[in-house]
Amino acid sequence: NKIVFPELFFTDKNLVGRDVLKISRNLSDLKGIFADAEAFERMPQNQLAYEVSSFLPEKEGTPGGLYFGITYLYPGKVGNEYMMTKGHYHANVDRAEFYWGLEGEGMLILMDGQRNVWAEHVFPGSLHYIPGGVAHRMANTGSSLFSFAACWPSDAGHNYAEIAENGFSARLMEVNGVPHLI
Ligand code: PA5
Ligand code: NI
Repeated sequence: NKIVFPELFFTDKNLVGRDVLKISRNLSDLKGIFADAEAFERMPQNQLAYEVSSFLPEKEGTPGGLYFGITYLYPGKVGNEYMMTKGHYHANVDRAEFYWGLEGEGMLILMDGQRNVWAEHVFPGSLHYIPGGVAHRMANTGSSLFSFAACWPSDAGHNYAEIAENGFSARLMEVNGVPHLI
């Protein structure tokens, strides 16, 4: 039972209809991020990996504003690696972000500027602070829909190129049925 955005949240009716952006990413949009390229190629490339519903009440780049979004990350694995988001640094690299778990379970994978990687368990009600300068990616480690909310500054932006080129220095793999950072 998917938590619905934005109907659940807009108590201020003046906000209804203001700049809601919905994006979806298929497997084909995630090419190159998983370790097992052969397993990846065998999967249907039009399979839905995740959807993001964002509320962007300010113009992109506005200092002092906030954005809000919910990501719905579907379960699955590519080889032994959990389904995950592309991951990014912020374009304004020092901008921070909050993530919090809504339904299902997963792991938040974090990497600082020295490429140190660590992970936090995400579950309904868990709160995660992502400091500036830290790249972030979510993985669905459960067998059901994993959704989480995010709040970030409207002048943060996204830097996908760095992760697309160099990846994270550790991956979240299933080993003997449990997630391991390798
Ligand atoms: O702002 C965020 O960090 C999130 O809303 C992400 O953009 C979202 O989870 C999708 O991940 P990505 O942008 O790495 O594809
Ligand atoms: Ni972010």
